[in-house]
Amino acid sequence: MINIIKKNQIFHLEPPTGLLNDPNGLVHFNGVYYVFFQWNKFLKDHSYKEWGMFTSKNFYEWKFEGSAILPDQKYDIDGVYSGSAEIIDDRLILYYTGNTKPNGIRKTYQCYSESQDGKTFEKKGIFTETPNGYTEHFRDPKVLKVSESNYWMVIGAQTQNGEGAITLFHSENGKDWDYHSEILRLSEFQMIECPDLFIVDNKAILIYSPQKRDNLVDKSLYSFSVYKPGQFDVVTGEFQEEIEENYQLIDEGFDFYAPQSFYSDEGKRILIAWMSNMTSQQEKVFGNDEKHIHCMTLPRELTIVNGNLIQKVPKAIYSLLGKKVDIYEDSNSRTKIISASRGLYLNLATTKNNFKFSLNNEISLSYDSSTKEFSMTRNNWVNQKLEEKLLGLNELMNLEIWMDTSSIEVFINNGVKTLSSRFFTESEEVEIQIEGSKVIEAREISSIYSN
Ligand code: FRU
Repeated sequence: MINIIKKNQIFHLEPPTGLLNDPNGLVHFNGVYYVFFQWNKFLKDHSYKEWGMFTSKNFYEWKFEGSAILPDQKYDIDGVYSGSAEIIDDRLILYYTGNTKPNGIRKTYQCYSESQDGKTFEKKGIFTETPNGYTEHFRDPKVLKVSESNYWMVIGAQTQNGEGAITLFHSENGKDWDYHSEILRLSEFQMIECPDLFIVDNKAILIYSPQKRDNLVDKSLYSFSVYKPGQFDVVTGEFQEEIEENYQLIDEGFDFYAPQSFYSDEGKRILIAWMSNMTSQQEKVFGNDEKHIHCMTLPRELTIVNGNLIQKVPKAIYSLLGKKVDIYEDSNSRTKIISASRGLYLNLATTKNNFKFSLNNEISLSYDSSTKEFSMTRNNWVNQKLEEKLLGLNELMNLEIWMDTSSIEVFINNGVKTLSSRFFTESEEVEIQIEGSKVIEAREISSIYSN
């Protein structure tokens, strides 16, 4: 008899009930890592938003802490929307967008909240309203602290004529903010959500999520997350793109959205994203028989190598690797892995020109050295059709694969490319077939929850 397995993730952050979306307020404060998140704790839909909270002391064992900031003021009553964190004078400051809809008409406020102990949060009210020239699709403040007297903030925006934009604000104390400039405008999109601006390896990286909207009915159509490298002058606030070309995708899989970055206690730049880009139809079926839906990606450490943004799983996370998994390899580099655990880590080095990987009939990966294309396919659980993500790759050298109950994250060629996806599963066993690579390491991954 096949039991439908419980679909809780093993090593990805997810709340016990409701719907999780964007990571918010990522910070290391008083020896504790905080991952706040957009949370509807009541229902698996987007009708209510507060900030939920996870904490960790070591970055790989996590505690679910419940609610952090609730929508209970006139200026945030219809949602405590996304935002970020900074530490000022030993206090944790959380910046967020207060969403209101009196008589069904959207009005947003940029607000902040303060905490001394990292457990209780005191609202301090509004620090800015929407500047002239923008609609009320104005949200997601993300702070870049340069020094105790120099702070920048990017906020996602829609211009009055319906175009996507990123605005920049400045502050000398992190609490009083002035509009400074618009640093990006995308006329082919109608909104930009969740911007992030930071400096890593002497390069400024501007991350953002362009959104196509139907402005007539004010409805989101689709969106995705990208980055642009450049230089940011921390004195004048000028952002200069390195190359005037289109953005690059941060992740090439099916599910990756609204990423946010912060500094670890070792000063590494870490990025975490919401591991979903599902349609509402997909959301309904995916979470059908469960109390909760959605999770975060694994944290990724960012560096710049040869001008490319590289993403790697931080060292601390490898502490979750446990028992070795049995592998059956034949002389033609064909491998089979059968595992009772659904948390699996694989480190693979390619041995042939072509590579193939399949996990049950749920997800498959392949590389074709003649077309130089890497492919990920999965079954779309709404229409039962196979869907594919393709990316150009000159060479496939190695892959790190982090598999959870219903997700996969693939890191190609030491993190030059990544693909993150959820998949729908009904089977308990894991059967993996691999061709064209050698298994360097195969291990079970243990749970991140310490409570
Ligand atoms: C991105 C987003 C943000 C907003 C939040 C609301 O997924 O739409 O722009 O602040 O989600 O939950």
